[in-house]
Parts: sequence; structure tokens; C-alpha cells
Amino acid sequence: MTTPDNAVLILDFGSQVTQLIARRVREAGVYSEIVPFAKGDEALARLKPRAIILSGSPASVSDVGAPMIPPGVLAADIPILGICYGEQALCAQAGGHVGASGHREFGRAALRIVGDCALFDGVWAKGEAHQVWMSHGDRIEAIPPGFRPVAVSDGAPFAAIADDAARRYGVQFHPEVVHTPDGARLLANFVTRVAGIPATWSMAGFRAAKIAEIRAQVGEERVLCGLSGGVDSAVAAVLIHEAIGDQLTCVFVDHGLLRLGEAEQVVTMFREHYHIPLVHVDASDVFMAGLAGVTDPEQKRKFIGGAFIDVFEAEARKIGGARFLAQGTLYPDVIESVSFTGGPSVTIKSHHNVGGLPARMNMALVEPLRELFKDEVRRLGVELGLPPTFVGRHPFPGPGLAIRIPGEVTRDACDTLRKADAIYLDEIRKAGLYDEIWQAFAVLLPVRTVGVMGDGRTYEKVCGLRAVTSVDGMTADVYPFESAFLSRCATRIVNEVQGINRVVYDYTSKPPGTIEWE
Ligand code: XMP
Repeated sequence: MTTPDNAVLILDFGSQVTQLIARRVREAGVYSEIVPFAKGDEALARLKPRAIILSGSPASVSDVGAPMIPPGVLAADIPILGICYGEQALCAQAGGHVGASGHREFGRAALRIVGDCALFDGVWAKGEAHQVWMSHGDRIEAIPPGFRPVAVSDGAPFAAIADDAARRYGVQFHPEVVHTPDGARLLANFVTRVAGIPATWSMAGFRAAKIAEIRAQVGEERVLCGLSGGVDSAVAAVLIHEAIGDQLTCVFVDHGLLRLGEAEQVVTMFREHYHIPLVHVDASDVFMAGLAGVTDPEQKRKFIGGAFIDVFEAEARKIGGARFLAQGTLYPDVIESVSFTGGPSVTIKSHHNVGGLPARMNMALVEPLRELFKDEVRRLGVELGLPPTFVGRHPFPGPGLAIRIPGEVTRDACDTLRKADAIYLDEIRKAGLYDEIWQAFAVLLPVRTVGVMGDGRTYEKVCGLRAVTSVDGMTADVYPFESAFLSRCATRIVNEVQGINRVVYDYTSKPPGTIEWE
């Protein structure tokens, strides 16, 4: 297992993509910790990192109160890589000069390599040109003593700089994003070649470190974990159970808005395969009654969020209270909900999560997956022995079918939708497409249309089919099914599901659409 002796310290200046740096460092087999820039010196003393990476930032180094590299970090005798703002701050604080650029660079840019440097070893050579991703307005106009330019772009004469003797580097572009195709290899070079850190981090190491962390956080207290049936909360629960055993109680709330067979699958898996104490609450009457007459999507979401809280509160009381609440929060959930300034970002949809619960019940959160991305959580799930068919399941939203039935949600509508959804997913599986698709589901529209079946007229509802590809759910593309596949689904759904006589396919990407219809 990786020990903190081999850590990389990532100083966060507020970039939206700082976590991607950590992810790339993990992919290079090295442990890292992200710390707000102001705590850099403290982290340096505690972690004794082997290298430091300075993140980007929405700030400008010339802003009043701009984030600064702490003095201890600046003086540290270990390799430092500044990315975007990190490079600019390094220059501004070490004797260079940064000015506002007349030529903003945003998006893809061509980088020309003008010098050799350890970051580029085995990746880029002098004289070559490569695609990178830029996002900056300010630009470096003079570099500090000891540095030399090693790459340039149209908008950045110091697109990459190096001081090999001091092992300090700066890049104006973002190597951590996928739009810089070789970026991951540059970061791997920095941590393994420049800093000489052995590539020993692994998911097994992460699992062991998190288990120790959970034990330290929770002590002898009880933890309540809400299971949604999705991958994230299941992986969190299994990990926490491994850490604290029966101090964990899982609560699975069946709100009557689940997919076909879902409740049985989850209960069986947890009770029979994991022997994890699981309280299965059938709260469908409460949820259905509360949803009667509600047609507004936000009102549905708010009601469902509140009803979850009520169920959790009741269950917590039954076990004599719990000090901690466990959630399967992932990193994309964190960035979607918190802006750089700490203020609220615009609410597109109120996610059902139980964010109101800890405050109301005076609980602290246990969120062991907070720094991971979905595909990493899936790998952790496999590491923990969860069945691959479960780990590879498409995401399913907490409010369930309620947000896939525009208009009023009734038991009948849920039953109809469940059948159509199961047929659609069955066809997707049979076609071998399930794993290529990020998420696929059916929606039931409150619109009736006229059809003809046999010799008779029908007047039934419309079913919409949705399938998207995505990396993290924040943007999505429509999955391009062949028309024969969609025809097959339409035929089966109309023939086998009473109440539906027409099927349409949703061709909207995100943005401008969202993945769910509400
Ligand atoms: P949208 O519709 O916002 O969805 O493009 C992005 C991803 O998030 C899921 N989603 C939710 N997940 N609680 C959840 O746990 C929610 O309230 C919620 N709303 C949307 C959605 O299924 C997609 O994967």
C-alpha cells in the first residue's frame, strides 16, 4: 500500500477541474491530496509530499486578494508543477511578470515544442506540434530567473517553462483534461520521473486507506446509510460495512418509484451476499399519497426529498439514534453544487439527496467516495467484490420514476412505465449495447394519441425512449441506435404494454436538454 511518504500535494486555487489532476495522479499510480491553497504550508509539514502541483483558478494574479502560493511551498526544495494560474502565480511570485493578454486563449490550441524538458520525456520532442487545452486571459510576459521556455502557442509565449535544476515547471495549458490528449502522460512524467515517486497507488490501497479513515472518523458510533439501489450508495455501504461492521445500518426505502424487480435485487444482494443489516421500508403509500395531484417537477423533487428525510428520521429513532449519515456522494455531485466562491450555483434541478437530513437530525456525514468519479467508483465496487452486473448498472435518480412521468404520478402510470422500461432495457441487453450506454430509460408522457390495433381504434399514452453516452452525467450525447433496433422496441412496447400506443425517441443532447425529463 502507498504510504503518505510517497504523496503528491495538490494546491487548489479554485479550478473546476482540480479533481481531475488528482485523478490523473492516481492513474499514474501515485497518492495525492488536494488542499486549499491557503493551507499549503500546513499540509507541507503534515504530509511531507514528494512533489507539489499548483492548480488553475478563475482568479487573476493581478486581482486584489488573489490567491497566493504560501511562502513555505514556494521555498520547498521539492519538484513543483504549476498549471495555468499555478504557472502564472509561480512566475509572478518568483520574479517574473504576468499581464493581461490581448489574445485570450480558450479551448483547443496548437502547442509548438521549442525545448527538451523532463516533463516531455518519451512524449513530445523539440520541433513537434501538439494539441492542448487552454483556458486563460492573463499571460506570462517574463519568466523568473532559472526558467527557460520549452513550448509556445499563439497566445502564450511561455506555454510551458522549465527550470530543470530546481525541478520547477509551469504549463499554461491544462494537462489534466482529456482535450489535452497527452496530458496524462505529462503528469505521469512529473510524478514518477521528475519526482521519482514509485507507482504503487492502487484501488486496493485506496480501499485500505478509506477503511482506516472511516474507523477514525466514526469511532464507536452508529452510522445510518440510505441505499437507493444505485451503484454509489451500494459501494459506500459495502466499504463502510467493511470498516465498522454492525455499527452500520442500511435503510432501503421503496418509494414505489423503482424499476421492475429493483427492490428484490437490492435486498437480496445486501442480505444474502453481504449479510449487511438492511432495513427495507415499504413507504410507497406515503410517497404515492404525497405525490397525488402534484405535477410541477420541482414540487415532486422537494416532496420526495422531504419524505426520504421523514423515513430516515423514523428509522434512526428505531435504532436509538445515529451520529453519522453515510452517502455515496461523488465528486461530480460536489462540483455541481458548490461554486468557487462557496456561493450557490444556479439550481437546474434540486437533486433528491438527503442534504437536509444531517442538519435536521444533527448528523455528521460519512462520504468516502467524495473524491472519486463514477468509473473509479465502479472499479472500487469490483475491488470490494460487488457483482460486475450490479456495478455496471446505469445510474438511477433518487426520485425514481416520478421524474420520468411528466404530470401527475400514479401507481398505474408507474406500473405501465416499469413494463415499457423493462422491455427497452431487455432489448438493449440483448443487442449487447448496455455497457456502451451511460443511461437508458423510458418515460411516460401524459399525452394520448390515436392509434389502430387490429381493427380497432386506440387512444393511449406515448412512451419516450432516452439513451445517452456520457463520462460523468454533466454533458451527454444521444446514443445513435440503428432504426431497426428502435422499431423493435416500439413494436414490443406497443404490443406488450397496455396503455401505450406510440413510442418516440428523444434526440436531445445535454446541454441544451438534461438527461432526465424533469
Ligand atoms: P440530469 O437530468 O440533471 O441528470 O441531466 C444527470 C444525472 O443525474 C441523475 N439525477 C439524479 N440522481 N438524484 C439522483 O440521485 C436526483 O435527484 C437526480 N436527478 C438527476 C440522472 O439520472 C443522470 O444520471
